[in-house]
Amino acid sequence: MSDERVITPRAGEEDQQIEKSLRPRRLAEFIGQDKVVEQLRIAIAAAKGRGEPLDHTLLYGPPGLGKTSLAGVLANEMGVNIKLTSGPAIERAGDLAALLTNLQKDDILFIDEIHRLNRAIEEVLYPAMEDFALDLMVGKGPGARSLRLKLPRFTVVGATTRLALLTSPLRDRFGSVHRLEFYSIDALYEIVMRSARILGVECTPEGAREIAARARGTPRIVNRLLRRVRDYAQVIGDGVITLEVARDALAKLEVDHLGLDENDRRLLRAIIDLFGGGPVGLSTLAASLAEEVDAIEDVYEPFLLQLGFLQRTPRGRIATRRAYEHLGIPYAERIVDNGAEQGRLWT
Ligand SMILES: Nc1ncnc2c1ncn2[C@@H]1O[C@H](COP(=O)(O)OP(=O)(O)O)[C@@H](O)[C@H]1O
Ligand SMILES: [Mg+2]
Repeated sequence: MSDERVITPRAGEEDQQIEKSLRPRRLAEFIGQDKVVEQLRIAIAAAKGRGEPLDHTLLYGPPGLGKTSLAGVLANEMGVNIKLTSGPAIERAGDLAALLTNLQKDDILFIDEIHRLNRAIEEVLYPAMEDFALDLMVGKGPGARSLRLKLPRFTVVGATTRLALLTSPLRDRFGSVHRLEFYSIDALYEIVMRSARILGVECTPEGAREIAARARGTPRIVNRLLRRVRDYAQVIGDGVITLEVARDALAKLEVDHLGLDENDRRLLRAIIDLFGGGPVGLSTLAASLAEEVDAIEDVYEPFLLQLGFLQRTPRGRIATRRAYEHLGIPYAERIVDNGAEQGRLWT
């Protein structure tokens, strides 16, 4: 499986360029995620009312759902600067110290993939978040002493696809924690219409709905599908995205009516054909697909779980009856015998 696939929620280079123009900048432009948006709206009004920076805010959820966009929206709504960094980009404690000492009052420091910060760096972040202080060690050996530097009040906005990988002391330092959910088809439809307007693409409501329905609940994917379908509409038709054009284009891309592509189907088929429907351990499954464990957990699984095609159990992944039905494979009833599960065809 590769990230070249059209429905990967990870951002490629082309995406990053175009996403800039499609990114919502204000809360009012941010479509869907009503609960989170409402909570943030209140947090923003309250912080502004008190003349204080926002509480440290943690956003989590699968890739492509709008975490980076929301961080930018928060900065715009608060009228403050945002500095962008990420867990893997901060290699040494000194890198973080440099970032922190360059912050101005009320700035937002956005740390993407915050679960990938290493421990030593986290230790520097704790007092910075809690007391707006930076503890520096001056000198070496017996003469070394620690020096406390006062920082301006600022806000950390953290983003992660994997809340469970965050250490609890780090998680506890966020005053507000928000989980982004997969988007409804209605919300994705609105995003298609908005993006089509910005890109200058003509799109019928039926065409837009078809694209929305196959975007696996993910704005990044809906925007990418829109661009692919637009290309197709230009080459094959008169540039207008109609229902028919959308269907043809998506069929060519091998994205099925639920938004699954060949790689998702391959993953499900591997569980069914190679491991009798499961349970199969994640690393065994990854090896059989020549895929990284991380990619499976981050990219492929969340939506398959959401569809109810996959189950996570302590003993591994299981393909559900729905997955069999979607693939057109007869479902094997599961017989549990002394804890040993076997698949048996129910005839
Ligand atoms: N709520 C939204 N409304 C409109 N477009 C959105 C929304 N959320 C995300 N997008 C689009 O999806 C793209 C990916 O979002 P991003 O914030 O980069 O996701 P994440 O950081 O969670 O991976 C953005 O560039 C934007 O075009
Ligand atoms: Mg992001």
